[in-house]
Amino acid sequence: MHDFRSFIQLLKDRGELDHVSRPVERTRELAGVMSKIERTRRAFYFSNVEGARFPLVGGLYNHIERFGAALGHAGPEPFTNEEFDRRIEAAKANPVAPKTVPTGPVQENIITGDAVNLGDLPVPTFFERDSGPFITGAVGITRDPVSGELNIGVYRTLIIDRNHVVINASSMSDLRQNYNAWEATGKPMPIAIALGVPPALLIAGACKLARNVCEYGIAGGLAGQPIELVRCQDSDLLVPAGAEIVIEGTVELSERVNNTLGEFADQYGPETAPLTRVDTITHRNDAMFYSIVAGRNPEHNTLGHVAVFGIQRSIAAGIRAAIPEAMDVDVLFEPVMGTLAHVTIAIDKQSDAQPKEIIERAFAARGDIFPISRITKRIIVVDNDVDVHNRDEVQWAIWNRAADAAKFMVIPGVESWELERAAKEGQRSVRIGIDATMDLADVEKLMRPIIPGADKINISDYID
Ligand SMILES: Cc1cc2nc3c(=O)[nH]c(=O)nc-3n(C[C@H](O)[C@H](O)[C@H](O)COP(=O)(O)O)c2cc1C
Repeated sequence: MHDFRSFIQLLKDRGELDHVSRPVERTRELAGVMSKIERTRRAFYFSNVEGARFPLVGGLYNHIERFGAALGHAGPEPFTNEEFDRRIEAAKANPVAPKTVPTGPVQENIITGDAVNLGDLPVPTFFERDSGPFITGAVGITRDPVSGELNIGVYRTLIIDRNHVVINASSMSDLRQNYNAWEATGKPMPIAIALGVPPALLIAGACKLARNVCEYGIAGGLAGQPIELVRCQDSDLLVPAGAEIVIEGTVELSERVNNTLGEFADQYGPETAPLTRVDTITHRNDAMFYSIVAGRNPEHNTLGHVAVFGIQRSIAAGIRAAIPEAMDVDVLFEPVMGTLAHVTIAIDKQSDAQPKEIIERAFAARGDIFPISRITKRIIVVDNDVDVHNRDEVQWAIWNRAADAAKFMVIPGVESWELERAAKEGQRSVRIGIDATMDLADVEKLMRPIIPGADKINISDYID
C-alpha cells in the first residue's frame, strides 16, 4: 500500500512519469499539455510552471490499474472495477480508525496572514469558459456542527484571489449539508482542503458514503492501516499528517459565488457555493501540487467511477425494494451516457402489461440519496434470458424484441438532478422507459437459436 510520494516514485521506477522542465504558462498552456500527456495514459511532473513556487504532478490514476497498483494489487490477474468495488465494500465493513499525531510533515512550513498567496500554487485554468483556475485534486475536510463527525470529499475549488476560494458542493454531497448546518448555527465554519493525500484517502473522499460514515475510517480500511492526522493550525479539523499541502480557511456563508467549470460529462457545470477566506497554508518541504485534468478526461473519469459505486448501489437497492419481482438489476453510469443512470431490470414476464407497470413503479421509487426518477434517465425491462450487466445483450434485446411503439415510453417534465445540464425550465427533463421483453404471443417466433449441448462441452477435450 502506497502513500502519495511512494506511489509517484513507483510510477517513476516503472517509467510511466513524464517530466516537463521547460517553463509552462498556467492559464493558456498548462492544461493543454497536461491533457495531451494524459491521453497517452502517462503521469506527468511539471517542475517549472511560470510564477508558481511548487511543481505540479498529475495523471496518476488515469486508468483503473493504477488504483490497483496504489492499493498494492500484485496481479497477475488485472485489477477490475469489480475488484475495486469489492475492496471498497470490504473497507466499509472493516474501517480502521485514524490516528491523531502531534505533528507531521505537512506542517513543516506554515504560511499565515499577508504571506498567504494562492498564486504560489501552479493551479491550471482548464477550459475556455471556466470561471478561472480550479484546484481539482484536493480533498475537502469539514465537520458536521451537530454530530461533530468529520466529512471528507473531493470538491472542485475555484481560486478567486490570493486568499479566497470557492469550494463547490453538489446537492447530493454531505458538504452541502454541512454548509447548511453551519449556516443554521450562525457561527463561522472552518474548512480545510488537502492536496497530495494517500491514494486510499483520495478514493475514500470520492466515494459516496452515508452521512454518518467518516471517510478517514474507510481510507484506513482500504490502506490496512490508520491514516495519520494532525490538528489544523486554526481549527479543530484534522487533516492528513503526510499531505503535501493543506489550505485552511473560514467559510463566509453569507456570500455565494456563481462559478463554472467544464465537467466530467463534457459540458460546462455552473455551480453556486459560499466564499472561503484562506487564513493559513501549510506544506511539506519540497511539496508537490496535485492536479486532475477536469472534464471528460481519463483521470477524472476513472476517479469518478469511485464516486458512482455508492450511488449505483443505492439506486439498485431502491429498485429492488420497489420491484421485488426483479430477477436482476443493473445500474449503468458512464460519462458517455450522460450524468444520469441507465437501469436495466430482468423479469420473468407474466403479462404484456407488466413491463410498463414496472417501469412506472421503478421511476416512482424513493431511493435513499434521491428519488429514482431524479437521477435515472432510462429504465429498460428485459426478459430473464438477457444478461442485464452485458450492455451488448441489452442493446440486442431493445432492437430485436420491441416493435410496438407503445413499448417505448417518453415521460416528460420530470424533475432532474442539477448535473443534467440539458434540463429545461425548473430543471425539468425527459425520462425514457423501454419494454424490451418479447410479447407473449411472439415467444415462439423470437426464440433464440441455441446449439444443443454446446454449454456442456469442455473445449480441452477436443483440442490437441
Ligand atoms: C475530480 C473530482 C471533482 C469533484 N467535484 C465535486 C464538486 O465540485 N462538488 C461535489 O459535490 N462533488 C464533487 N465530486 C464528487 C464528490 O467528491 C463525491 O460525490 C463525494 O462522495 C462527496 O463527498 P460528501 O458527500 O461526503 O460531501 C468530485 C469528484 C471528483 C473525483
